[in-house]
Amino acid sequence: MKVLVTGGLGFIGSHTVVELQNTGFDVVVIDDLSNAQISVLEGIEAITGKKPEFEQIDLRDKAAVQDFFKKYSDVNGVIHFAASKAVGESVQNPLLYYENNLGALVYILQELQKKDNANFIFSSSCTVYGQAEKMPISEDTPVQPAMSPYGNTKQVGEEIIRDVAKISNIDAILLRYFNPVGAHDSANIGELPLGVPQNLVPFITQTAAGLRQELSVFGDDYPTPDGTCVRDYIHVVDLAKAHVTALQRLVESKNEEKVEVFNLGTGRGNSVLEVIKAFESATGEKLNYKIVPRREGDVTEAYADTTKANNVLGWKAEKSLNEALASAWAWEKKVRGL
Ligand code: WQD
Repeated sequence: MKVLVTGGLGFIGSHTVVELQNTGFDVVVIDDLSNAQISVLEGIEAITGKKPEFEQIDLRDKAAVQDFFKKYSDVNGVIHFAASKAVGESVQNPLLYYENNLGALVYILQELQKKDNANFIFSSSCTVYGQAEKMPISEDTPVQPAMSPYGNTKQVGEEIIRDVAKISNIDAILLRYFNPVGAHDSANIGELPLGVPQNLVPFITQTAAGLRQELSVFGDDYPTPDGTCVRDYIHVVDLAKAHVTALQRLVESKNEEKVEVFNLGTGRGNSVLEVIKAFESATGEKLNYKIVPRREGDVTEAYADTTKANNVLGWKAEKSLNEALASAWAWEKKVRGL
């Protein structure tokens, strides 16, 4: 069966293409290369022995999306990663985020709606829960008003999919990711942030590699055990495997509802200081860091209740935080030639 993976050369996308190909799915990737390198195709090939088909398409180009679905008329499963994801940038340029993240979604769904049967998997985010009142966060935890245009595109994206699924043959799974980190064990693919990393783990590995002088820890006065924020860091390979499991669920019509939601995390919360300690112990590197004031918009804590993903989806995160950090470091060293 042929699957379209949009954003398939990005961080989570590329790891998912690997797992799909390893499971026997035929993959065609769309990427506009705005935040990914074409060389990722070779990384995927080095791991799986196979280069996926590739089309460089900007999904805001409606005619190009239509042409794609004409050319690949056998595609009836889509995993849609392609999106802009920098929270701060979305505040500065909201229309870019609405166009990239929602325009593209609408054009793809318009094509899938024409099919007798189509399966759609959407990259959503734990950001939809904002600061939840209770931990861990289950799928029943109320969604809160978005704190940024980026977060809003994930919430509205979910609603668009629900509306379309109601009146079409599209079945969908919405995957709400917690904090994806790490890299493939082979160090052939990993995260490649453009410019200064906004996320914790790439900032840590770039600091250890000497590209950044020191890591700023954003606030140590939160109401958590050590005062720093708590997140659920999930290994990207575990996350990628969840997409394969979700797709199989849709293909085999095991889904109980037209649209299902799953939280994807480990169920463990780790503070920023714990991540730093884990990095140091997993890699033997000493990390330069200092405490600075809080970053605007950060929630105090967020970690997943994984019961539904475990019991209904039949998937469980298997890798540890130390493994994730060691793999992120191996990748960083390879990229920097260290
Ligand atoms: C994790 C923790 C920071 C950098 C964001 C988006 C979310 C998402 C994933 C996107 C926080 C602290 C970070 C640094 C630090 N989705 N930190 N120094 O904020 O949980 O989630 O990325 O695709 O929507 O909001 O992840 O990695 O930025 O931060 O102290 O230099 O690390 O304060 O507590 P976050 P993050």
